[in-house]
Amino acid sequence: MDSSVELDGAVAIVTGAGDGLGRAEALGLASAGARLVLGDVRADAAHAVADEIKAMGGEAVVVVGDVAEWATGESLVTTAVSTYGRLDALVNNAGVVRDRMVFTMSEEEWDLVIRVHLRGHFVTTRHATAYWRDRHKSGAPTSGSIVNTSSEAFLLGSPGQPNYAAAKGGIVAFTLSTARSCARYGVRANAICPRGRTAMTEQLMGAAPTEGFDPMAPEHVAPLVTYLASPLSSRITGEVFVVHGGVAALLAPPTVRATFRTDHGGWTTDAIRSALDPFFVADPPQPGFVSEETLPLAESTFDDPRS
Ligand SMILES: NC(=O)c1ccc[n+]([C@@H]2O[C@H](COP(=O)([O-])OP(=O)(O)OC[C@H]3O[C@@H](n4cnc5c(N)ncnc54)[C@H](O)[C@@H]3O)[C@@H](O)[C@H]2O)c1
Repeated sequence: MDSSVELDGAVAIVTGAGDGLGRAEALGLASAGARLVLGDVRADAAHAVADEIKAMGGEAVVVVGDVAEWATGESLVTTAVSTYGRLDALVNNAGVVRDRMVFTMSEEEWDLVIRVHLRGHFVTTRHATAYWRDRHKSGAPTSGSIVNTSSEAFLLGSPGQPNYAAAKGGIVAFTLSTARSCARYGVRANAICPRGRTAMTEQLMGAAPTEGFDPMAPEHVAPLVTYLASPLSSRITGEVFVVHGGVAALLAPPTVRATFRTDHGGWTTDAIRSALDPFFVADPPQPGFVSEETLPLAESTFDDPRS
């Protein structure tokens, strides 16, 4: 057990807890003393993690279902409250990939990935924040923490993952909106962009080293999630972290790269061209937003299936 970050008696939901990062995060939270509600679409996987937690002396119950279903989100929250009497943290982690270039992607591949990630984050958050808001309004002391799961794919515009990059960008925007709207009810929301060798990424990352430190072991993501879930991080909300073995990077908000003005009232097409042409001198043109200086590409390509 972590010596200082203790969650004794706290109750946490983890979605997609049956495997990979969600499993590691659930075990990390349980090690810190939290009681768990494990959500996953795969019953066997979720029950296996519940058994691991119980074998450690912890408590865990399972809610089986598609996280993007309204009823699943509702059931995760009501199960936490009916089983343990409270809810303290929600870790939105469940996810899938359907990688394809934008010009060959099917409707189904787009819709599934947007649905599981973005709607899956919304549905659970909708029910958890309603619970915390009701508690706050009843005068009870309230402290809720939401940890959402984005990805560096959103920052880098991962070329083979237009659905996934868009969903993960949406999750960051959703996190900021939740943080701002729910602060008055004692609720915080942060997002992580993790890296870990899991079923989702093992083909990209290859086998784990046979000896020594493995920076891509999913377990390395869990301590930040446990800390963000705990009241010890009460000053942290509306933030986005990149996290993997031995690294936790706090992202800065988007900044303005350059501002162009005209002294002659509104823009004309010629005036805007004169202002912008000198700025974009690179040949061939580079997509904007993130440069290697802000996030080294060599360290940031794990979600890109073509890298
Ligand atoms: N592994 C990485 O390097 C990495 C990098 C960036 C972001 N992420 C994100 O981290 C999260 C976890 O990824 P992972 O690598 O552990 O993947 P994983 O495939 O190992 O685990 C995902 C889990 O989610 C469950 N799941 C899938 N769809 C579901 C649904 N509709 N409802 C409920 N559960 C569902 C799966 O059954 C599985 O147990 C995802 O959101 C992923 O996008 C992972």
